Amino acid sequence: MTTRIISTVALASALLGLTACEGNRSDKPPVHVFIDMDQQQRFDAQDRNDFFADHRAMRAPVEGTVAQGYLKDDDHFYRGRGLDGRLTDELPAQVELDAALLERGEQRYNIYCAPCHDQTGRGKGPVTSRGGGFKVQPASFHQERLLPMPLGYYFEVISNGKGTMSSYAAQIPEADRWAISVWVRALQLHGKNKGWDDTQGGAVAAAAAPAGETK
Ligand code: HEC
Repeated sequence: MTTRIISTVALASALLGLTACEGNRSDKPPVHVFIDMDQQQRFDAQDRNDFFADHRAMRAPVEGTVAQGYLKDDDHFYRGRGLDGRLTDELPAQVELDAALLERGEQRYNIYCAPCHDQTGRGKGPVTSRGGGFKVQPASFHQERLLPMPLGYYFEVISNGKGTMSSYAAQIPEADRWAISVWVRALQLHGKNKGWDDTQGGAVAAAAAPAGETK
């Protein structure tokens, strides 16, 4: 009787050992009794696939088609332009001007723009004084030329870059570009109150400065 109990217990624990729980750590491949649909035939990115004439497993979108949700036909929201095709000073309907938008704009601006344009928008961010500085200084948003620019202009500069400044379209989604544009406007209003009227930075200032002075 006792031996029977012992062997039953031994058998049970041996079986238990075989059925290790999913999630346990092991270097060995798990015993996979029921495959379910865990492993299926598939092609990885950059794989070869001889089914297609170009032998590429990755397929380009069919010409002339747009994936759902990627049409971006709203010129106002996606390009900063009104119905007349001009850069607009109005916020698109999807973007509501409230405290949350300003807060978001400030936060995104301080991440993406302040390194060059500085937190006040006067174009003296920390990177301008490192590594030999910039040939063309980042623009101050408080210069006369930029003050009357519509919000859509800042959206446009963030989207497509301007002069030596590159595009930030890949890093900053459209809604955040609007938030940042609003924050730039807030900085300008602040500057106006403080009486700032810098002309420093940007193509205009560079052209005005004697050649030797721009590094
Ligand atoms: C790596 C540095 C750098 C960053 C980051 C940067 N800029 Fe600039 N920006 C510049 C420089 C340099 C110029 C001047 C370009 C020129 O005139 O050739 C400029 C110019 C501008 C101008 C003026 C365009 C004009 O009409 O002269 C605006 C507006 C502007 N930037 C907005 C932004 C905003 C908003 C961000 C953040 C999303 C940003 N920049 C991030 C370097 C930067």
